[in-house]
Amino acid sequence: MTRLSGITPSGHVHLGNYLGAVRRWAREDADGDLYFVSDLHAMTTPYRPELLRALTREQLAVLIATGVPADRVFVQSDLTPELTSLTWVLQCVTTYGEAARMTQFKEKSTGASVRLGLLTYPTLMAADILLPGATEVPVGDDQAQHVELARTLARRFNGTYGEVFVMPKAIMPPVAARVADLSDPSRKMAKSARDSIGVLHVLDEPDLLSRKVKRAVTDNHARVEYRPAEQPAVANLLEILAACTGDGPRDAAAGLDGYAALKDAVAEAVIEELRPVRSRTLELLDDPAELDKIRAAGAVRARERGAHRLASALRLAGLG
Ligand code: TYM
Repeated sequence: MTRLSGITPSGHVHLGNYLGAVRRWAREDADGDLYFVSDLHAMTTPYRPELLRALTREQLAVLIATGVPADRVFVQSDLTPELTSLTWVLQCVTTYGEAARMTQFKEKSTGASVRLGLLTYPTLMAADILLPGATEVPVGDDQAQHVELARTLARRFNGTYGEVFVMPKAIMPPVAARVADLSDPSRKMAKSARDSIGVLHVLDEPDLLSRKVKRAVTDNHARVEYRPAEQPAVANLLEILAACTGDGPRDAAAGLDGYAALKDAVAEAVIEELRPVRSRTLELLDDPAELDKIRAAGAVRARERGAHRLASALRLAGLG
């Protein structure tokens, strides 16, 4: 079994990324797992090159600071030739309809100048998954559809040209698969949120985390109970609390008398959860040579893992 997953440096890492993905990667314990910063994916919407470079380093540091072993991480663009070769092959077994049907594409492709990369990005994600032969892909539920596409493409390529890809499957976290924005429980917490008061960032200072939690919307039921359909904002806070303390969300509600107490408990739990991650990340960012070393070694390992599969896919496709 090989697990693989990625995070896109299109913004600072937030609590949804952390609870739904990165912390789980740190807890999985299998040799050969691979986790990466998908900087190529961050180019699908307008971005600033210098900021992309800085965020890529920051995310790599957050992964390691969270406890993802340094010998399992890499940066996607260090494998640009391999991944873009395979992406082309996969694009040629993907229909336009399949790409255009992706929910994320539909959500983000509003406005005048939609980048073609936004449409084709799930084929790059399929290449990320299929190149190293990942069998399990731990993601939050917003990425499940993309993993499904990777399965479809693997099956189609194998059936048309010959067996080369192994079948991946998405695995979801039991809690925190979809952490919502604190200012609007109908929206997932996202890096792109314009109003970031509802987004808790892993590197936010404790004071700021506390202020954001205190401003979270609740409701007028005035009852701390876990009822996701009737009280989505309170349920979101309880899920965050539960994910930090290790309880279930119903148990987390016990003994909390009122929304002020709930917010105090959430703020404290989040601050304590993120404190060591924040300080270790800042240390790593202070030591660029160490981070460069980890990055270079990661690229070599990831490249080795995929080399024979890429060669076989190109050959079966009639190239070379
Ligand atoms: P990205 O950067 O949007 O998100 C990284 C991970 O965080 C999860 N996530 C959430 N989980 C819970 N609640 C939320 N509010 C929340 N927001 C995000 C995502 O599900 C994801 O697991 N395309 C991917 C990165 C990627 C990738 C891959 C993943 C590139 N190649 C190959 C798996 C396999 C992305 O942009 O994730």
